[in-house]
Amino acid sequence: MEDKVSVMIPEEEVNKRILEMGKIISEKYAGKSIHLICVLKGGAFFMTELAKRITVPVTLDFMSVSSYGSGSESSGVVKFVKDLDEPLEGKDVIVVEDIIDSGRTLSYLMEILKKRNPKSLALCTLLDKPDRRVKEVKVDWVGFEIPDKFVVGYGLDYDQKYRNLPYIGVVEV
Ligand code: IMP
Ligand code: MG
Repeated sequence: MEDKVSVMIPEEEVNKRILEMGKIISEKYAGKSIHLICVLKGGAFFMTELAKRITVPVTLDFMSVSSYGSGSESSGVVKFVKDLDEPLEGKDVIVVEDIIDSGRTLSYLMEILKKRNPKSLALCTLLDKPDRRVKEVKVDWVGFEIPDKFVVGYGLDYDQKYRNLPYIGVVEV
C-alpha cells in the first residue's frame, strides 16, 4: 500500500535555501577551496545541489556509517561502512548531512574526523530537529529547523523509500 506523503517544505523553498547557503559558504571560504564530505545515503541529494551553488573550488568525498542501536534510536557508536577515500590533512572540510536528530551520530563522527587533522572542520545540514537533541553538536549552517516529525524526501528515507522526492514531506501514519 502506498503511504500518503504531505508536503512540509516545497521544492522551490528547498532550492531557494540551498542557493542561499551556497552563497553564504562561498563568501566565507573566498580564496580557499572546500573539501565536501557527504554522509551517505541521505546527504547525497543535498550535497550535490549545494556543491553546484558553491563558487569556490570544490572536491568531494563520500562516507557511509551505520550506527549501532535498535529501532529508530541511534546509539552514537558509529561503524564505518565506507570510509573516506582521501585524507583530510590540511584541508578546509565541510561535512554535509541531511538531518541532525539526536546528534549522536554526528557528534561521534566529528570527533573522529577532527583527529585526521583537517585545517578546518565545519558541519552543514539541510534539516535540524533541535527538540530531539540528546548530544551537543556544533552545527555551522542549517537549512531549516523543523519540528519533531519524521520527514522524507531530498535524500531522507522511510524504509529506504522516498529519498528521491524533490521536496521535504511527512509520511502520514
Ligand atoms: P542522530 O542525529 O544520530 O539521531 O541520527 C541522525 C540520522 O537519523 C540521520 O542522518 C537520518 O539518517 C536519520 N533520521 C533522523 N530523523 C529522521 C527523519 O525525520 N527522517 C528520516 N531519517 C531521519
Ligand atoms: Mg543520515
